Amino acid sequence: MKGFRDLYPEKKRIQNYIFSVWSSVAEKYGFDEIAGPLLEEVSLYKKSGDLPSQMYSFVDKSGRKVALRPELTPTVARMASSRSSVRPMKWFSIANCYRYENPQSGRLREFVQLNLDILGSSSMMADAEMILTVVEIMKNFGLSKKDFFIRLSNRKLFEDLVLSIGIKKKDLTEIGRIIDKKDKISSKDFVSALKKLKLSPKQIKDLGYILKVKLDKIKIESKGLSELNELVGYLKNYGVLDYCKIDLSVVRGLDYYTSTVFEVFDSSKKYRAIAGGGRYDNLIKGCPGIGFGMGDVVLELFLSERKKLDVGSKKVDYYVAPVSSSDYSRAVKIVNKLRSKGNLVEIDLVGRNLGKQFNYANSLNVSKVVIVGSKDKGRVTIRDMKSGKESKVKI
Ligand code: HAM
Repeated sequence: MKGFRDLYPEKKRIQNYIFSVWSSVAEKYGFDEIAGPLLEEVSLYKKSGDLPSQMYSFVDKSGRKVALRPELTPTVARMASSRSSVRPMKWFSIANCYRYENPQSGRLREFVQLNLDILGSSSMMADAEMILTVVEIMKNFGLSKKDFFIRLSNRKLFEDLVLSIGIKKKDLTEIGRIIDKKDKISSKDFVSALKKLKLSPKQIKDLGYILKVKLDKIKIESKGLSELNELVGYLKNYGVLDYCKIDLSVVRGLDYYTSTVFEVFDSSKKYRAIAGGGRYDNLIKGCPGIGFGMGDVVLELFLSERKKLDVGSKKVDYYVAPVSSSDYSRAVKIVNKLRSKGNLVEIDLVGRNLGKQFNYANSLNVSKVVIVGSKDKGRVTIRDMKSGKESKVKI
């Protein structure tokens, strides 16, 4: 089906490798794994921007409006709000998500997302810890500073700047959505979308300036500005500031973000965002949160282009080859014994002759073939498939 994948062993091995790096770094940085349901009530996604229009939703047999989850944050928020454990909680999950998007490079209708969140801290220290974790994940895939960067902004600061040029509060969400799409549309379409919101030519020009302004040139009072400066200080302490570029054009399409927002891109900006996240202080009553999501689709494309996906193939330690059907029961005993010692062992399952078994063993990437024949009483022949050397050993 369009936008969905069948993962054959070679591809599934790659995906498993991606999952293993994700979970090992998450655990190393103190995150506990959680899991939520695939199906949620549609109303859970009220603050998810445009996502409801992309959901696979339907009415279930008891008349409830439900959807396959398009993202994990609302589930995390629901789970956090019904639990009063020691805070902050550091949670991660790796789960399939579904969005009825136009399938394109790096974007499908079914994908797997790593979701990492810190719940219960409003300090910028948590934001810094989150950004450090995303950098560590990228580094653990063998990527370095020259391969990727993080675009970092603060929504409060962006909104204060937009209000300072006379744009009305009621238009903020729509302005944010237009800017979020800026890189995907032509500059003509961008300007005409702003004109539709009745922005004057001066306001459009000022908005262009805001999207490029440097932090030290900002003259307005804004809590967002002090938050961003505080975060920059922590990132410097962690040694990851060099991975970040302040970029006020990062607003993100989800309505629940309230402060820090960030996105991870490959340095040539060839691909869509590899990861994205931010702070959401009003999604859960009395429990501020910060987190990000990273999908497997664009990450795999990027890692493969950078030749960082050498995950190898299945390695079979022994292939046990009965010479004829009468040698089968002895062969199975040998298989059992080798497997009980922790070896990966295969045996003929289709009744091939010895020559064809050798061909099959070759295609399986086998280290050693154990030939079990009736002539070798109490012994078997072991063939090293690399050197071709054979030796007889007692069973
Ligand atoms: P998002 O930016 O919508 O954020 O998605 C995060 C990541 O999921 C993207 O950067 C991309 O890697 C992947 N992704 C999204 N849509 C697709 C798609 N159609 N196909 C393949 N990959 C995709 C969120 O989902 C937020 N809930 C993240 C978050 C967690 N914020 C706070 N905590």
